[in-house]
Amino acid sequence: MSVVRIYAVGDVHGRRYFHIFTASLQSIVGMRPDVIVFAGDMIDEGKVDDLEPIVKEVRNKFPQVPIVSIFGNEEYHEIEGLLIKRFPEIIWLDDSVAILTLNGVKVGFVGTRGALERLTFWQKRHKPELAKVYEERPKVIKKLIKEVRNYSDMVVFISHYAPTYLTVKGEPEKVYPYMGSRHMERVIRETKPEVVIHAHAHNARVVEASLNSSRVFNVSLPARKGIAIIEARPRKGILSYVGRSYGTAR
Ligand SMILES: [Fe+2]
Repeated sequence: MSVVRIYAVGDVHGRRYFHIFTASLQSIVGMRPDVIVFAGDMIDEGKVDDLEPIVKEVRNKFPQVPIVSIFGNEEYHEIEGLLIKRFPEIIWLDDSVAILTLNGVKVGFVGTRGALERLTFWQKRHKPELAKVYEERPKVIKKLIKEVRNYSDMVVFISHYAPTYLTVKGEPEKVYPYMGSRHMERVIRETKPEVVIHAHAHNARVVEASLNSSRVFNVSLPARKGIAIIEARPRKGILSYVGRSYGTAR
């Protein structure tokens, strides 16, 4: 089976890390991805306009490549509709799935904002209902991965929040529960998506890990200082992953 090449990045945070993003993009020479994944927090504080230059840079470099994106905590719930309307070329996933045929491989994408084990102080005050969402979401994702598996050669699970603590290491331990949820890790162990992509943990020192036969990539831009390049094959063939980062400021 063919290799699927995924370029993935999250936590550009609008103008904050835009320079690292563009430098990384420009440093990629002679290669073209089959798909580009935005793993959330591409903008900052809900500023929809900030996505424009990011998409433009990507389009200049790779005009035809599909972009799959989820929402991060900075893509506020309130602006989701605006983002979808303003950037209709992006395949937006929000507890939903898309199947794309890439390089002859049917790839099922499952995307979500993800789950936290503990609400942040702000969330507790302003959005206490999220506790229920974070409890239910792993169950929703489990169902979606199982479902999409029936129609795909390979499954890619994308979550903004970390779906395991393995690729959060480097952050202070006390903040792990605000970075992600191990309930998602259980889902990964059970449903075995070939590739798992997340962001949100900017200070992680470990950016790749294996969970049984799933390979997890933290693609947070400040953690990697570059765009992650993931090459994956469906499990039916010879299992192989190559994870690299293209950056200039490592
Ligand atoms: Fe985030």
